[in-house]
Amino acid sequence: MKTSAIAHSNIAFIKYWGRSSEHDPELNIPMNDSVSMTKDGLLPDIRLKTHTTIEFCASFAQDSAVVNGDPAEGRGLERIVKIVDPLRRLARINDRFRMLSINDFPTQAGLASSASGFAALAMAAAAALKLELSKEVLSTLVRLGSGSAPRSLYSGFAYSYRGTTHETSFTEQICGPEKLNIRAIIAVIDEEKKKVTSDDGHAFSGTSPFNVIRISESREQAQRIRKAILEDDFSIVGSIAEQNCKLMHAVMITAQPPLYYWDAGTIRVIKKIDALRREGLECYFTIDAGPNIHCLCRPENMEMLKEQLSKTEGVKRIIPVKPGEGARVIQEHLF
Ligand code: PMV
Repeated sequence: MKTSAIAHSNIAFIKYWGRSSEHDPELNIPMNDSVSMTKDGLLPDIRLKTHTTIEFCASFAQDSAVVNGDPAEGRGLERIVKIVDPLRRLARINDRFRMLSINDFPTQAGLASSASGFAALAMAAAAALKLELSKEVLSTLVRLGSGSAPRSLYSGFAYSYRGTTHETSFTEQICGPEKLNIRAIIAVIDEEKKKVTSDDGHAFSGTSPFNVIRISESREQAQRIRKAILEDDFSIVGSIAEQNCKLMHAVMITAQPPLYYWDAGTIRVIKKIDALRREGLECYFTIDAGPNIHCLCRPENMEMLKEQLSKTEGVKRIIPVKPGEGARVIQEHLF
């Protein structure tokens, strides 16, 4: 029972930040709907994907996992088991597992490695256990690992519903990768692991006075951006995504304790994008829980932006991306 899967990371246009306090925090029911684009890296060695192999066997003494060469322990292993356990229950199998997972990009640096990781894990584990689940049902289980991860199950663009129960807090595809003609250029400012993970950061969101505003704005923005994606309206998509990102960082900065994810290089890139837009080059930014920036643009402006961003002080390197494919089972195993 050995199976492998790959999944790509995703970037949220409408961010999930904070878990619903009305539910068990372990359920990861988000405070608001979120909207994302699954990413395919355009560098030959960085496709922004996780490749995972999992094997179940009655003779294994315990569950074990190695992620990017490091054995998963404590909270890391717990989050993996949180996804695998319900699948084992559905399959009525009690075998322990061995799992190996490799990312082709920096882990936990605000590039959504948890998203691709949990999506690939769930795809591989469900297939190994011979479960035939719809992606919507699988999305509820992936959410138990990380709230942004279910979106990586889908090609193109995805919509996560906040929902009111475990079952209704699911994710669906908005449309495939071709519908919206968009590219993103990731300006990498820092590839180190962040000091406060998003898993911990969510807990402080409710302490910010801006949290209520962010949630009500996000509700309305999620509806408008879904429509704009389907109509290939890049200006609306970009401007809503940028505004939603600023709302999330306003909440982070004003939380107790405050979370400052931006570096000096982050601000330089923000100002560069703002200046280029004023000069007529249409581009927008969005930033997750880290210092790295995604610059959103139309394909025809990508070369010009790559040049401009790579020479901005503080940018270590750039990774261009296009809308990518969803999680899928593959035949190449890692062990
Ligand atoms: O899924 P988590 O717990 O890694 O949280 C994701 C948080 C953000 O990346 C900042 C926003 C998002 O919706 O992806």
